[in-house]
Parts: sequence; C-alpha cells; structure tokens
Amino acid sequence: MRTQVAIIGAGPSGLLLGQLLHKAGIDAIIIERQSPEYVLSRIRAGVLEQVTMDLLDEAGVGTRMHKEGLVHGGFDLLFKGQRHRIDMHELTGGKKVIVYGQTEVTHDLMDARKSAGLATIYEANNVSVHDFDTKKPRVRFEKDGVNHEIECDFIAGCDGFHGICRASVPEGAVTNYEKIYPFGWLGVLADVPPVSHELIYANTERGFALCSMRSKTRSRYYVQCPLSDKVEQWSDEAFWAELRLRLDPQARDQLITGPSIEKSIAPLRSFVAEPMRFGRMFLAGDAAHIVPPTGAKGLNLAATDVKYLSSALIEFYGEKSAAGIDTYSERCLRRIWKAERFSWWFTSLMHQFPESGSFGQKIQEAELDYLTHSRAASQSLAENYVGLPL
Ligand code: APR
Ligand code: PHB
Repeated sequence: MRTQVAIIGAGPSGLLLGQLLHKAGIDAIIIERQSPEYVLSRIRAGVLEQVTMDLLDEAGVGTRMHKEGLVHGGFDLLFKGQRHRIDMHELTGGKKVIVYGQTEVTHDLMDARKSAGLATIYEANNVSVHDFDTKKPRVRFEKDGVNHEIECDFIAGCDGFHGICRASVPEGAVTNYEKIYPFGWLGVLADVPPVSHELIYANTERGFALCSMRSKTRSRYYVQCPLSDKVEQWSDEAFWAELRLRLDPQARDQLITGPSIEKSIAPLRSFVAEPMRFGRMFLAGDAAHIVPPTGAKGLNLAATDVKYLSSALIEFYGEKSAAGIDTYSERCLRRIWKAERFSWWFTSLMHQFPESGSFGQKIQEAELDYLTHSRAASQSLAENYVGLPL
C-alpha cells in the first residue's frame, strides 16, 4: 500500500486532518487501533471556539453543529454561594462558543469520511512507525491476522496521549513537560434538562463542580473527587447529593436528576511534548499535549494543530515549499503553551488543593471576587475562554 500521508489514530485530530487533506486533493489513509463504536463511546468536553467552528465548516462538516449546537455568550462562576455571570460576548466584542459534544464532532467527521469513500482501517493491531527520519517513512500493522505495510511521504501521529508515535521517537529527541493534579473529575451524563441555560463553574469548600450540557435535554455534570475514589463507589444518588451541596440555592432548587447514562472518573493532567516534528513525522492533538479539562481547551488545541499541519502539507504539495512544515512545531507550541497556562490557571483557581487549606480557599475567593468585579480581569478570562486569536 502507498499513500501520501499515513494518519495514525481516528480521533477528532486524525479524522479532521483526513478531511482537510481530502478537500485539498491529498491522499491519506487512517489507521486506528479501536473500533468506530469504541471511538464514539468516549465522552469528552464539547465547547468549541470560533476557530474550531470555522475549521469544521472548512472541512465541510459544520451543518449539524450549526443546527444542533447551543450558542453560548457567557457562563457563570459560582463562589461563596453566589453566581456571577461572565458575559464573554460583550467582553470580547461579540465572540461566542458553541456547546456541541465531541462525540457529535467525531460522528460528523466519520460520516463525511464514509460518504467520500475514504479509507480508514479500524481495529489495526501492532501499529508501528518506521524510517520517519528518511524521505520514505513506513507504517506497519496487523489486521485480521495479516501483516501490512504502508509507504508514505509523511506520518501524522494523531494517536492520543497513549499512542505509539511519540513513544517511537528516540530518547533525547523529545522533552516532556508534565504536571499531575492531586484530584480527579467524577462525571455523569444524564438525560435531564440542564440546571441552567449556560455553564456553571463552581468553587466550593467541598471542591469544584461543573454544570455542563450536551443539548437542552441532556446534561453533563462533574464534581472534583479524590484520585483514590472508584466510580463503583458512587451511586447516582450519592453523585446528585454531592453536586447539590456544591450549588447555589437557586440552582439546587432547579436541579433535575435522573439515571446516569455514563459515569466515569478522569484524572487531570497538564502535558506538553516538544518538539512536535521528527523528520517526516508530526504529532498533533493529545499525542503532543494534554490540558486539564477546566475551560475545555483539548479539542480546540487539537483543531489548531490540525489547521497548521494541513496547511503545511498543502503548501508542501502545492507550492513545493517546506516553510509550513519547518515552522509547524514552533507555531503550534506558541498557542499550546498559552492554552496550557490558561487551563492550569483556571484549574488552580477553581479546585480544592489538599495542601493549600483554608488560606488557599480565601485566596481563591479573593481572586474570584477580583475577577468578577474588574473589567480588565473578566476580559482576560473571557478572551482566553473564547480562544486567543490565531
Ligand atoms: N495505533 C492506532 N491508533 C491508535 C494507537 C495506535 N497504537 N494508539 C491510540 N490510537 C487511537 C486511539 O484509539 C484514538 O482513537 O488514536 C486515537 C486518538 O484520539 P484521541 O485520544 O481522541 O486524541 P485526538 O484525536 O488528538 O483528540 C483530541 O481528545 O482528549 C480529547 O481533549 C482532547 O478533545 C481533545 C481530543
Ligand atoms: C463538558 O461539557 O464536558 C465540559 C464543558 C466545559 C468544560 C469541561 C467539560 O470546561
């Protein structure tokens, strides 16, 4: 088999890259370890910045997002039992975000790929990457017990945090920066109307909580929990009771509960691998960086990597210029570190840290008071939340 770009991983990064390359007439094969059903079963944040919306439109997969996505012009910060609205629309001169589940984005990309008749190899085993320090990289994998090899011009490592692309780079060629947080998020998805029409981020003495949604009839809620908690220990009743304790009286009254359709605990991590290019192999999305979910930057960062990578490859094939490829890593990392900073800061502001005690809580409350009463501070939060300019 031969292709121009071999894409490892059919998450949002790999699928979006495949679609943008296809639009530009560049041939790509996607190789994915899991089944499509498994890929779709992963529940992740779904707040899309304008840049991400534009890119999905450019890829020709924005129709359902515009029809079903919920446009949000603000969100609430809840602390000391009171909610304060951050009017991001007004603070940023008219910018908004769309709440549209990552599962739906993936679904739309899968459908587009299928209807264009493009090749995705699912349930590929033992995927490995070779010779990316030469002009003839190769990808090997096993499918249904048969070994295959793909020759290509480039490899796109879109295989997430646990993928093989980053792991295949020689030690010493990559530097990892990492921070692990001492708590997790217990998340519940339920077919109940959201408690509020906008998101609520809550800082409480019992820990952080987030009220989010997937639609007007499906809610996504989270509470901060110790890393030692097991999801089986949390009955639906216990979850709702804990969430209620972290809300303001009005939200508490309006909260509608119901059976969970998904419940999981996710650890929180900040991670960046530098650089993101190794000869003819590029890393994009979670393969290169992870942000804690506070602020929902993960998918948006993946989308900008893919924007820069697709335009670099289009430039390479169209104009025979390596300029985009040569600056790919640097361009991505400038944006990534700013989103890393924001996600780390927002996480630090909203969560209970075991070691910081009541002093830490008071400092957080003072910062939240400042944030919600200073236009300059609210504007900085809003500007980061809607997404910094490219
Ligand atoms: N071979 C082939 N595919 C692999 C391999 C492998 N060895 N290892 C992992 N994969 C696949 C995974 O099964 C997954 O489907 O790569 C895909 C990576 O997808 P994601 O983890 O969703 O990463 P990405 O596409 O970069 O999406 C980033 O995901 O975690 C969120 O917040 C993040 O929203 C962001 C988005
Ligand atoms: C979510 O809906 O899952 C979500 C929303 C916003 C966040 C994080 C997660 O900041």
